Parts: sequence; C-alpha cells; structure tokens
Amino acid sequence: MLTIDEIKKIQNKYYTDFPSPYTNWSNMADDHEALLYLLHSYNCESLLEIGTWQSYTTRLIYESGIRNITTMDIHKDMGIRYTHNHHKQQPENEIGKYLRPVGITPRFCDSLTYIPTSNDKFDAVFIDGNHDYQHVRSDTYLSLKMAVKLVIWHDYNNGNNDVDKWLNEFRKDHHVQFYPCGSVAYMEIK
Ligand SMILES: C[S@@+](CC[C@H](N)C(=O)[O-])C[C@H]1O[C@@H](n2cnc3c(N)ncnc32)[C@H](O)[C@@H]1O
Repeated sequence: MLTIDEIKKIQNKYYTDFPSPYTNWSNMADDHEALLYLLHSYNCESLLEIGTWQSYTTRLIYESGIRNITTMDIHKDMGIRYTHNHHKQQPENEIGKYLRPVGITPRFCDSLTYIPTSNDKFDAVFIDGNHDYQHVRSDTYLSLKMAVKLVIWHDYNNGNNDVDKWLNEFRKDHHVQFYPCGSVAYMEIK
C-alpha cells in the first residue's frame, strides 16, 4: 500500500511530466489523491473508468502502477449534461489522448446501454461519465455487475445535484463512504 507521501511524490512527478490541461472536467489534486489512495489501499490491479474525456486522470492512475485499465466514453455525443460550448468544441480525437501513447484506446460506447460480458470484471470501477440522475443511477448498477472490490464516484458534493441526489438515495441501503477532502465517494464490494 502506498503512503500519502508516496502518492504525493507520484502526483508531483506526473504534474511535472504532464502539465495539466486547462479543463474543468479533469479532476483536481485532492480527488487524484483520493483515487490513488483508494485504489492502492485496496490493492486494485484493474480499473474500469466510465467517462474518459482526455484521460488525464486515468494516465495518472496508470503512472502510479495500475496498468490494467479499461475506459469507456460515448465519444461524439458528450452526454446530456455536457453540451455547452467549451465542451462541444473539444476535438473528438482529444478523447483518451493521454492513454493512447501507452497503448490504451477507449471503448467507444454508451454506458447507458452497455451490456457487460463475463470478462468485464475489474477490481475497481470509477464512475465519471454523464452526471445526470438517470446516468449516475444506471452507471452505478452497471458497476455493481463488474466491480470486484470498489465502486468509486466522482463529483459528490461538488455542485452536481443529481450525483448528490442519487448517492443520498443509494446510501440509504448501501454503505457509501466519502473521502475526507474533495468530491470522491466510494463503496467497498463485500
Ligand atoms: C467529466 S468527463 C470525464 C473526465 C475524466 N474521467 C477525467 O477525470 O479527466 C465526462 C465524460 O463522460 C463522457 N460521457 C457522457 N455520457 C456518457 C455515456 N452515456 N457513456 C459513456 N461516456 C459518457 C463524456 O463524453 C465525457 O468525456
């Protein structure tokens, strides 16, 4: 398991090697720390990410030593929640750009209609796709079919009312926990 100091070293090296793209979709340092801490505490060796975007976060996870990464994105249609100009103007080939150099290409599919195969088992599933209620709910149930150790949600308590609405409902009968800083929520699979 990595200590927080080791995680910070990995982050600092990563931020130097790969300066952050300016986009309000990429996770912030606190959330990066939370993700690395959780994934390494639970000895996760494989990850599925729902919502790739540029894959800046995903590449950080890769650089931390987790090499078995699958990531999915709806690609051309950015999702109901993400249609304002800044995001619309992003060229399509930006999706997954930080992972391509290490040979990982996103699965281009809609998580809402995705049917998992028997091979779709991942130590952790990170939900960071469309943040509206219908999608977060559906992505949660999809993740429960594929996650072996952890389900992680991004953007809890971060102004995304639909993520909060869904997780506050879901946590009534599931043990959802919140990382102390940032906007990462997670649930251990028992
Ligand atoms: C917030 S961004 C992901 C940010 C990325 N995880 C990161 O940390 O940098 C959300 C992404 O989810 C994708 N998305 C939206 N709806 C989706 C869906 N139904 N299925 C798969 N991906 C979806 C969008 O195209 C967008 O690239």
